[in-house]
Amino acid sequence: MTGQPSNAVGVPTSRVEGRLKVTGAARYAADFPVDDVLYAVVVDSTIGRGRITGIEAGAATAQPGVRAVLSHLNAPRLPYRDNTGSNNPAGQRLRVFQDDQVRFFGQPVAVVVAATLQDAQHAASLVEVDYEAEQPSFDLDSAPANDPETYARGTADQALTSAPVRLDLTYRTSRNHHNPMEPHATIASWDGDQLTVWDKTQWINGTQAELAAVFGIPLASVRVLNPFVGGGFGSGPRCWPHVTVAALTARQVGQPVKVVLTRRQMYFGTGFRPAYTYQLRLGADRRGRLTATTHHIRAETSRYENFQEGILAPGQMLYSMPHVSQEYRTVPLDVNTPLWIRGPGWATASYVIESAMDELAYQVGVDPAELRYRNEPERDESTDLPFSTRRLRECLAVGVREFGWQQRPRAPRARRDGDWLIGTGMAVSVYDTLRNAAQAQVRLAADGTAIVEAASSDMGPGTYTSMTQVAADALGLDLDGVQFRLGDSLMPPTPPHGGSQTMASVGSAVQDGCDSLRRQAITLAVQDRNSPLYGADPDTVIVRRGRMSPRDQPAHGETYRQLLTRQGRTHLEARGSFAPPTGPARFSMHAYGALFAEVAVDARLGIVRIRRLLGVFDAGRIINPALADSQAIGGMVGGIGTALLEHTVTDPRDGRITNANFADYLVPVNADVPDLRAIYVRGQDFEADPIGVKGLGELVHVGVAPAIANAVFHATGRRIRELPITADMLQ
Ligand code: MOS
Repeated sequence: MTGQPSNAVGVPTSRVEGRLKVTGAARYAADFPVDDVLYAVVVDSTIGRGRITGIEAGAATAQPGVRAVLSHLNAPRLPYRDNTGSNNPAGQRLRVFQDDQVRFFGQPVAVVVAATLQDAQHAASLVEVDYEAEQPSFDLDSAPANDPETYARGTADQALTSAPVRLDLTYRTSRNHHNPMEPHATIASWDGDQLTVWDKTQWINGTQAELAAVFGIPLASVRVLNPFVGGGFGSGPRCWPHVTVAALTARQVGQPVKVVLTRRQMYFGTGFRPAYTYQLRLGADRRGRLTATTHHIRAETSRYENFQEGILAPGQMLYSMPHVSQEYRTVPLDVNTPLWIRGPGWATASYVIESAMDELAYQVGVDPAELRYRNEPERDESTDLPFSTRRLRECLAVGVREFGWQQRPRAPRARRDGDWLIGTGMAVSVYDTLRNAAQAQVRLAADGTAIVEAASSDMGPGTYTSMTQVAADALGLDLDGVQFRLGDSLMPPTPPHGGSQTMASVGSAVQDGCDSLRRQAITLAVQDRNSPLYGADPDTVIVRRGRMSPRDQPAHGETYRQLLTRQGRTHLEARGSFAPPTGPARFSMHAYGALFAEVAVDARLGIVRIRRLLGVFDAGRIINPALADSQAIGGMVGGIGTALLEHTVTDPRDGRITNANFADYLVPVNADVPDLRAIYVRGQDFEADPIGVKGLGELVHVGVAPAIANAVFHATGRRIRELPITADMLQ
């Protein structure tokens, strides 16, 4: 620690960019005023698999305002260099307009560029594409799978045979789409060999690297800007084909081009949460202590890329047991490639494991919360490492108390309120504490105010605000003396703004840069004969409200401004960096939580209403409680969606997504959401990173769906092993 007083961190500060957002002054990707911009509209395939046999573009080309119609027939071949440092899964990424193959319904097969959006839309509707169609495959259970990823400790199959209590359960989860408010959009502009894109992205450096690889140009020739992102949920850490379409068409017509995906195009133009079939076998003793689990997992991926996510980890480390065996197979289907979304992998695994734990609790007659205590490990049994911090017991205890858990009847279907069956359920949440290398630049001006920069993104968690708070404390300035900037690839590089790693990674780089700038100023002062701090021990000097003074002599000292002005300096600068330690890991690092739900289920209609939802979270240090609550509410609302509403439906005949719109793809709205409550257990994790945070955005989503599913069982006595749980399943 720095000895600096903490005045800004921990305070529920409102979003510093809030005024810009509510007044409409915040510019999102499609909002940037770029001179002479043209509009591109993508034509999507209307078959799910096959090849293009002909494209008739004459009528489109002849339309007023149309500047170009491109397809694989006339688009330039692009280098598409390998990009190993990216988030691209193994395989060959979709190469737009490079061949006649159709790999999924909705694949871009042509693009029209025109003077106005209306011209482009109309002309795109006139492009005629002929296909030779084949029958696409969407059968997750029976299609051939890729080689499995496996894990084993002990002898799980044997141990299961001899276990006094055994369960063999198969769960299914459906495909979910991200559905952020802001559609994906890109404006691309070339100045000679220099490409500038305004893009909705959650990873500015990833988009930069991908465009450089696709076009075979140096990294320095690509600039990416994204100062505002209107939600992402994981749709944005990859650079999708439409970004290439924007850059390709802009280069071709020699003018800037804007591409905005329609809501419908978002369903196949970006990624999604893959559907899963997850068979879990579980063995335990009669007191509910786990002895063995086996996991047979199948998840969809595309035919051209193998998307895998962290589905295995929770089954290895969440509970104590000697025997575990896991097989995770991805199944190539005729779909576009999935991507991370809201607690990727961990949310799905937690749904299965926490539902099965609930089933076990009833089987052995142990309270579900008590069952978790009985299976609490002392170390991470997958790595044999100690936990950096694991306050799961505390989360459970606080949740049991605050929710009034003990008042529930043990038996299912035991409470009624008129037509409604009432039940409660709980589940544990867990998520990996991710961190990656990040840098930040700090500049203190002679007037005593600072600007801090890092590429990053802020898709909604409040990165602008939380970074400002960290910087203000480390510099010893008031909040309004610090401006944090992000969203430009010219700024210091940062990891993907996803996986709940921004606060730990970028926040630690910001703190490092501000610490070193503060020390630089203090050093200048104590070495300056004209400073009242001359000769002081720099380690005893702290900065408050821009004023350097010895810790025990607050009246003594001088301000940054006085120092810089007297020394005739325009500014001081420092570079901050963070990198997770290299070498073998010393700790198992995760964030934990306990979720408690109360539901009401209409006894005749099967409609499920959430009555109460409480989350108690061990996320390490909380930088801003208001922003944390905003994350928690958002994550829990997302969990209601996964549990009860969200389901992308595919027509098996051709792969068309039949509900690719906000009317038919259901997400929770206000009427679906009760008062939500989040509690954060006190604590910090300085093994994880120098600011003590463990990540929050995913944690608050994981565990919500199983808590709801378990409450539905308690209310009705019906165990639905499928998400979403819909009324028809409960009638
Ligand atoms: Mo996310 S799934 O943290 O973008």
